[in-house]
Amino acid sequence: MPKSPVPETMTCVEISEPGGPEVLKPTKRPVPKPAKGEVLIRIAAAGVNRPDCTQRAGRYAPPPGVTDIPGLEAAGEIVAVGDQVADWKIGDKVCALLAGGGYAEYAVAPAPQCLPVPGSLGMVEAGALPETFFTVWSNLYDRARLKTGETLLVHGGSSGIGTTAIQVAAKRGAHVIATAGNAEKCKVCLDLGAERAINYKEEDFVEAVKQFTQGRGADVVLDMVGGDYIPRNITAMATDGRHLSIAFLQGSTAEVNFMPVMLKRLTMTGATLRPQSVERKGEIARALREHVWPMIANGEIKPVIHTTFPLAEAAEAHRLMESSRHIGKIVLIP
Ligand SMILES: NC(=O)c1ccc[n+]([C@@H]2O[C@H](COP(=O)([O-])OP(=O)(O)OC[C@H]3O[C@@H](n4cnc5c(N)ncnc54)[C@H](OP(=O)(O)O)[C@@H]3O)[C@@H](O)[C@H]2O)c1
Repeated sequence: MPKSPVPETMTCVEISEPGGPEVLKPTKRPVPKPAKGEVLIRIAAAGVNRPDCTQRAGRYAPPPGVTDIPGLEAAGEIVAVGDQVADWKIGDKVCALLAGGGYAEYAVAPAPQCLPVPGSLGMVEAGALPETFFTVWSNLYDRARLKTGETLLVHGGSSGIGTTAIQVAAKRGAHVIATAGNAEKCKVCLDLGAERAINYKEEDFVEAVKQFTQGRGADVVLDMVGGDYIPRNITAMATDGRHLSIAFLQGSTAEVNFMPVMLKRLTMTGATLRPQSVERKGEIARALREHVWPMIANGEIKPVIHTTFPLAEAAEAHRLMESSRHIGKIVLIP
């Protein structure tokens, strides 16, 4: 059957004003045109990420020059290519890390931020890969240099980020400890490869980490909670440990005694993915393609999908995400 041509306009979801999920409104916008070095993707599935909720609430503006339509990742088919795109052609099935614009029927993506859909993975799963895999890889391996045999503590183990970090780190030979807010979430963390799951509402994670590591502590901590978790993480860390801040669900300020940072030679670092350059994101894409995509293609690593929503019901998707009842990823289908 001949492919339908690219239309002039598309349905997308915009943030009509900063606020709660109800400000997400379906609307019509022109289909974007791929600039030099970009491709245009007809979106089959687009992942929802917690930073989208922060953007909707008015606390995470898109970088300069980026569309105000939310959405940091998508999978679909390339339907147009801009000048100077050598690696991709019309008809290729890809998933892409976006700086924005995923809540739509079409989005443009810089060519280096596209990856092939691994193996026979479905589009829903593929659309849920880029944001968490780019974030997890760049933090655990580029920044923290997590090694085989080291212990990783992942907070929010049942989140999109957490379910990715547990699987990637465990498959690459780290001992993973995860925290989560209930027994069902803890079981999922164990099923994904964590060796210890801590229900942080019932157990003190610092004690549990110390016990699990026979007093040594965790070599790397991936933290999205912040607040009083920061001094507690420091207590739970091993000598030469690395602490990665990727979000602050409980606030970005904390009272911290830096003595153990000095005595244990800890590294405190962190990063946000979105403002980094296309070149840098391209490097992360190449590393993922080499080290992780084969494990997704052969089924060793499976993205955890909680549920899907039609694109027009993006507000419901945000309500679910902010309830924290989900396990893994929530995906929008145009
Ligand atoms: N820096 C970056 O580049 C980057 C990129 C992507 C995402 N992120 C951040 O990473 C985090 C995870 O993103 P995601 O899309 O995977 O989110 P998500 O699936 O919505 O997961 C967040 C999880 O955190 C836990 N949580 C929520 N509030 C908490 C609190 N006050 N204390 C402790 N745990 C809490 C919840 O699980 P429980 O039931 O276990 O509490 C929830 O499921 C978000 O904060 C996001 O902003 C950062």
